[in-house]
Amino acid sequence: MAPTIAKPLLSDLVAQTGQVPLSHVRPVGDRPDLANVDKESGAGIPLIDLAKLDGPERHEVVEAIGRACESDGFFMVQINLFRLPIHVATAVMTDDRSKQAPAASLADIVTNHGIPAWVVEGMLRVAREFFHLPESERLKCYSDDPKKAIRLSTSFNVRTEKVNNWRDFLRLHCYPLESFVDQWPSNPPSFRQVVGTYATEARALALRLLEAISESLGLERSHMVKAMGKQAQHMAVNYYPPCPQPELTYGLPGHKDPNAITLLLQDGVSGLQVQRNGRWVAVNPVPNALVINIGDQLQALSNDRYKSVLHRVIVNSESERISVPTFYCPSPDAVIAPADALVDGGHPLAYRPFTYQEYYEAFWNMGLQSASCLDRFRPAPPATTS
Ligand code: OGA
Ligand code: NI
Repeated sequence: MAPTIAKPLLSDLVAQTGQVPLSHVRPVGDRPDLANVDKESGAGIPLIDLAKLDGPERHEVVEAIGRACESDGFFMVQINLFRLPIHVATAVMTDDRSKQAPAASLADIVTNHGIPAWVVEGMLRVAREFFHLPESERLKCYSDDPKKAIRLSTSFNVRTEKVNNWRDFLRLHCYPLESFVDQWPSNPPSFRQVVGTYATEARALALRLLEAISESLGLERSHMVKAMGKQAQHMAVNYYPPCPQPELTYGLPGHKDPNAITLLLQDGVSGLQVQRNGRWVAVNPVPNALVINIGDQLQALSNDRYKSVLHRVIVNSESERISVPTFYCPSPDAVIAPADALVDGGHPLAYRPFTYQEYYEAFWNMGLQSASCLDRFRPAPPATTS
């Protein structure tokens, strides 16, 4: 028999072995317990109509977002209530500026309604094409160094974890776009153009949501964006291959996102689950909707009023799954502390101020755990005097 060649990426390993390798088998007691998942009530995650954010009903939408952030830490937003005529979409996707639609009309459409359907479909299409490239082509982007701005990797952090996760992922820094786009994969040939367009739309949406979230806390519209300093935007393109024994492993185990807010695009395959009242609840994909969740930084900036909630990804034996989270982050040097208006006798300061850089390093070193990284930043208890 030919010797087994080490395969850095899971997709190639699984193509070779066809079973769950020991490296990916969770110990008994740390497995997904798939029979004990609430598959129905995921529909209870509110679906928020973004178009109303710009109309007379803004106040109600802002309140609905605030309620969702307080109770579930998760909500969904409709993103593409409209479709561009195909000839306009095609022109925009080409590099030929002479064929592009007039900027004003495009901007109108985009700012009124969210992210256009063709941008979302393009993103998922190039993601799939990328992960279906030959191994040698994909491996050009491979690195296991979590500090690299652009890298293809597997699991979560193979340098530190004991059991690997059933996931390959491409991680991209996206903002400012011009600082990073030249380092992105150039294969498939449309990758940079299509992903750049999606990343730009996702950022615009993140900013609108941060404005609504600021208002929902009774703060100035621009509060959260200002508090985050020179913001950063990271994207993961997650690829979860079909798994012959999904009960033995996770796509991603339970974790909370370390950034401020996450906008998750999923293909039509289920896998995301969130924790609600101590139970795991499936958040099945809703067509034309993104899943939004509060990350640890918004929990800290809201002085614990809004919740960064545990979530996980399970895999299945039938289909591959693609998801594209956009992680909107504070600047590394931003000092994370809540607005004065959110701190009073009844709501003492929940965390000592910290920089995002300090937090992010603690998060990657700690690995994906259900223990909250935020707890490491609780203020020291007052010294007792005797
Ligand atoms: C993540 C995450 C969810 C998913 O990448 O942090 O939670 O459905 N992803 O892939
Ligand atoms: Ni997550």
